[in-house]
Amino acid sequence: MGPLAVTRLLGLISLTVGLDNGLLKTPPMGWMAWERFRCDVDCKDDPENCISEDLFRDAADRLAEDGWKELGYEYVIIDDCWMSPKRDDHGRLQPDPSRFPGGIAKLARYIHDRGLKLGIYADMGTHTCMGLPGTTLDKIEVDAQTFASWGVDYLKFDGCNSNPAEQMLGYPLMSKALNATGRPMAYSCSWPAYIGGLPPNVNYSFLGDICHLWRNYYDIQDSWDSVQGIIEWFSNNQDDLQPAAGPGRWNDPDMLIIGNFGLSVDQARSQMALWAVMAAPLIMSNDLRNLDSSARAILQNKVAIAINQDSMGIQGRRLLQEKTRIEVFWRPLSRSASALVFLSRRTDMPYVYHTSLAKLKYDAGNYEAYNVFAGSTVTGLNATTEFSFSINPSGVVMWYVYPQQPSTQTETFHEANPGHLPVL
Ligand code: GLA
Repeated sequence: MGPLAVTRLLGLISLTVGLDNGLLKTPPMGWMAWERFRCDVDCKDDPENCISEDLFRDAADRLAEDGWKELGYEYVIIDDCWMSPKRDDHGRLQPDPSRFPGGIAKLARYIHDRGLKLGIYADMGTHTCMGLPGTTLDKIEVDAQTFASWGVDYLKFDGCNSNPAEQMLGYPLMSKALNATGRPMAYSCSWPAYIGGLPPNVNYSFLGDICHLWRNYYDIQDSWDSVQGIIEWFSNNQDDLQPAAGPGRWNDPDMLIIGNFGLSVDQARSQMALWAVMAAPLIMSNDLRNLDSSARAILQNKVAIAINQDSMGIQGRRLLQEKTRIEVFWRPLSRSASALVFLSRRTDMPYVYHTSLAKLKYDAGNYEAYNVFAGSTVTGLNATTEFSFSINPSGVVMWYVYPQQPSTQTETFHEANPGHLPVL
């Protein structure tokens, strides 16, 4: 098939399989097992950390009881390695009986009873990435029905062990099959990550019609190198990726690894800031039972979350790459506000960066800025006001910028918001 025919075919499919169930108007938030717990199936010697119903119940308890749910973290997502190596007698996927003795439907009830939602993992192909039963084209319908019958709310559909032709059929078919169940389920497609992540291989407008979010690039690992590589790839390709995002359709640079072993406090802030500005899913993969207070504070930062969840859903862009290895990112937000992130790619010492809003393409006018991680407010900024601040190596300064409040309103504004938090 030539490229023109493929485009025509895709256009035709998109008319018939749109996944418009109103979900994920803002990026999903929650927790997923993979990056932290991988395919640990050793419940004998590592009962606390193995992939089992206990791990997901623990995650649900922590989300519900430690203030996460109220902030929007609502999905508990099972990744690979939940399955039994064999389908049941009716050809349905089934969980490993020793690690999920209660079954998935019971786990879903436990999660729903706590006001949360359940996500599950399957793979478009012969086997999952870890070698468990895959969802070949003939199994798509039965798997969608099974997930719906269990009360699943979110499907991560991976793409190991299939070829691009099968993926081109399988991902739209699963979208259709999920729709046909009548149960609203969020649909996360790993498809682009298996075909290079960029046009012309990836047709992002079609993808947005059939999936709510999609992995574009390689898996995140527990290191700053990995986070930095992801930021770099997304920024270098922002002309293709940024316009693809919007309410109900999100690029997914992969999980938040804050709270694990690989990031310093500054680097953890950098991941949170960049994921907020990129309108990325805020899906943590960490041990919520053992999280230090700085990781918790970063992940629970209300202004960073509000920036990520802004209702306009416009993904931010890298505005500037200075020779000094300072990079500036910008995201427009509702109510004439915006977010700025100043990221240091330096490896020497805190760097004093000089700039002004006018240099960052802001219009003339008066602004205030809230420093998201420092918790302080800068008032009385003109577009041309020169200012400077220090950015730690591999760290960020993140600002929420908004038009100066008229003086009559300032009083109520401050009274209602002790600590001078901007109204978001
Ligand atoms: C792929 C995905 C990961 C994870 C693993 C599971 O690598 O990209 O996010 O789901 O498979 O095996």
